[in-house]
Amino acid sequence: TGKKAFIAGVADDQGFGWAIAKALAEAGAEISLGVWVPALSIFETSYKRGKFDKSRQLSNGSMLEFVHIYPMDAVFDRASDVPEDVRNNKRYAAAAEKGFAVEEVARNVKNDIGNIDIIVHSLANGPEVKKPLLETSRQGYLAAMSASSYSYVSMLQHFGPLLNPNGSAVSLTYIASERTIPGYGGGMSSAKAALESDTRVLAYEAGRKYQARVNVISAGPLGSRAAKAIGFIDDMIKYSYENGPIQKELHAEEIGNAAAFLLSPLASSITGTIIYCDNGLHSMGLAPD
Ligand code: NAI
Repeated sequence: TGKKAFIAGVADDQGFGWAIAKALAEAGAEISLGVWVPALSIFETSYKRGKFDKSRQLSNGSMLEFVHIYPMDAVFDRASDVPEDVRNNKRYAAAAEKGFAVEEVARNVKNDIGNIDIIVHSLANGPEVKKPLLETSRQGYLAAMSASSYSYVSMLQHFGPLLNPNGSAVSLTYIASERTIPGYGGGMSSAKAALESDTRVLAYEAGRKYQARVNVISAGPLGSRAAKAIGFIDDMIKYSYENGPIQKELHAEEIGNAAAFLLSPLASSITGTIIYCDNGLHSMGLAPD
């Protein structure tokens, strides 16, 4: 209750970021968002027109509200990192005054909110995700790492100093980091492996420096916007249902609840870990009959 959370990676009400926002709001936290610049105006328009009203309803009858909504692009650390063509893009130009690089967003959060308790990283991007690793370009691979892994490092660098003691951070990963998932290409499997390894190192460093905890949730398949763009999500959901220990659909709300637990004092001894929220699929070694 009364905790302040910053969540990066919400652009509609379908993904894990939204579900985490909702679960944290249910627990009494105040939520601010970092929304990817190209998705910001449609998100704000949809929000204002009431498109999310149904999914904004909380169990006490109130509505999920966002204290602040910031433009953000987690592939840029500082304003000076933004290349000319991006800077001149209509949507980015509109967000330039506020600033959308990670350092600028952290500065805005500090000015508007002050210290925070919770950092959520629920974003990923891999421009060549549909290409097998054997066909992935260097540029595509590095872009996946930049948006999906270094973005978490950057967030902890810039938002870490804003954390109150006993703060906590969470990000989202996928089992493709440790077992081969054909179709999850473009260096995205590599990016998730880096994200998981970095979670251990960041847990140590941020633990010592800020008394903060850093964890990552390995989620099962969900038909979010990002997942639909990869193209094989329906097959993954079916595979999980057929082969996992618990035969049910995975709901974003379940990941929201697990994140709320990890980000709360209930998890005060848990840091540097991967928590599997996948109906148990990760624990299987052989597909059942
Ligand atoms: P989503 O589409 O709701 O979320 C991804 C978000 O990342 C979007 O809001 C997008 O605007 C944002 N984004 C992309 N590039 C960005 C950038 N450069 N700067 C700031 N924001 C940026 O989809 P989903 O699936 O909820 O993804 C959230 C996290 O969950 C990702 O890390 C994803 O890899 C992970 N995950 C998803 C699974 C699934 O089956 N959907 C399974 C396991 C992990």
